[in-house]
Amino acid sequence: MPASPTSPWWLDAVVYQVYPRSFQDTDGDGDGDLRGIAARLDHVRELGADAVWLSPVYPSPMADGGYDVADYEDIDPRFGTLDDADTLIAAAHERGLKLLMDVVPCHTSIEHPWFRAHPERYVWADGDEPPNNWLAAFGGGAWSRDRQSGRWYLHSFYAEQPDLNWRRSDVREAVAASLCFWLRRGVDGFRLDAIDRLLKDPELRDDPPASAPPVLPELGDAGALEPVHSRNAPDIGLALGALRGAVGDDALLVGEVYLPAAQLPPYLEHVDCAFAFELLHARWDARAYRAAIAAALDPAGAAGRIAWVLSNHDFPRLPDRVGHGNTRAAALLALTLPGAVFVYQGDEIGMADGPGGDPPHDRAGRDRHRHPMLWDGDAPHGGFTPAAATPWLPAIEVDGGGVAQQSGAPDSMLSLYRDLIASRRTLGDGLSFVDDIDDGVLAYRRGDRHLVAINMSDAPRACPPAGTIVRATHPQRLGAGAPAPARLQPGEGVLAVCE
Ligand code: GLC
Repeated sequence: MPASPTSPWWLDAVVYQVYPRSFQDTDGDGDGDLRGIAARLDHVRELGADAVWLSPVYPSPMADGGYDVADYEDIDPRFGTLDDADTLIAAAHERGLKLLMDVVPCHTSIEHPWFRAHPERYVWADGDEPPNNWLAAFGGGAWSRDRQSGRWYLHSFYAEQPDLNWRRSDVREAVAASLCFWLRRGVDGFRLDAIDRLLKDPELRDDPPASAPPVLPELGDAGALEPVHSRNAPDIGLALGALRGAVGDDALLVGEVYLPAAQLPPYLEHVDCAFAFELLHARWDARAYRAAIAAALDPAGAAGRIAWVLSNHDFPRLPDRVGHGNTRAAALLALTLPGAVFVYQGDEIGMADGPGGDPPHDRAGRDRHRHPMLWDGDAPHGGFTPAAATPWLPAIEVDGGGVAQQSGAPDSMLSLYRDLIASRRTLGDGLSFVDDIDDGVLAYRRGDRHLVAINMSDAPRACPPAGTIVRATHPQRLGAGAPAPARLQPGEGVLAVCE
């Protein structure tokens, strides 16, 4: 929806996700850093993005890639200093970019001083056995025994990530204060990690066995139970209201709520928007995508408050999920949906998964989605780190090369992203699906004049009447200004305009 003078900046924004460890290293330790991010902000600006979301940069033992936070109000030395953070925030603002921090409120690192100094802030149980059958998100039981006290502590993720007890006011106040700490430093908002896990059943009742596979995929055995007591508590407003109350209405709060869109409304009472994970996980199929988009746009649910996302640091990269031949069409789709859209670093050059670390850094197998950004396919380590350094994960090749090779090449993935982001501003309000079209084609109108049509099948299909091409996925074949084609090839799509 085009932003009116009174609508918030994020309504139609493109938010670029930086995974700091893999973006740009400047000090030669093989890990990306804040100075590197500042040095590469022009890339984000030239892409046309409105904001940057930084995955966590706080002090962390890195048991979960920084999502195990040991201090909410400092910067890990591998990423730099608080001064570097201030410089980065200022550099983003100078370029007209907003900056969002990632806040991990559900749990801390087990090495956070609170775990020993304020054990009462966590969720504990006594006894010979864990108090219930709850499962952790990465599989296995959600309770571990603390060797020091002999008591059980709850961890919704790795055992190195004990869950905070959000029913306590001191926890709510302490975490809310850390958001204010970053607001005072000038950040514009926060992506709130795993907020469907903030509150649990106070009686710690068992979760029942699952009656069907989960709507959103789970790792390991985590989908074996229906998480009715361990997640998505009905009084989630207790936690989220405290955060919203502390930051005020101007700070953007984006929720990572790993639930179907229909279950988002209680969260949206307090956060501005939430990710649409059904679309991220939909199989590459016109009906499945249509259903996932319709679910997210349901007026009874999350309509107008959706943050579209097709890729992030947790899941296989786009070419690996939708197929290499469909990656351009996926970009066309994501960037023409109404509402905010999040782009994961590297998507704009078509990065695929790599081999990961040996030995792995992440026990859940997510290294493969986190290889360093390829700035220059001809430079050592892709330009990510100085030649003499050893990157924490190796640079990988990308079809079409890195940013240096793709910049200025009209048929590159990067040009497609830049053009589509520029065109987004001209699309009209709302989205309505086009019916009576070939099976395997997804088509929708934006506003009165624009139409998007994508062939998601594996054979040529008829393109619905579409007017003149604004941008096609394959500009060598379908140039801007030409009439929309009669047929679309597999993996091909057009954004067209009717005069
Ligand atoms: C979120 C993050 C993921 C992390 C988990 C636990 O899902 O995106 O990377 O492992 O929360 O904090």
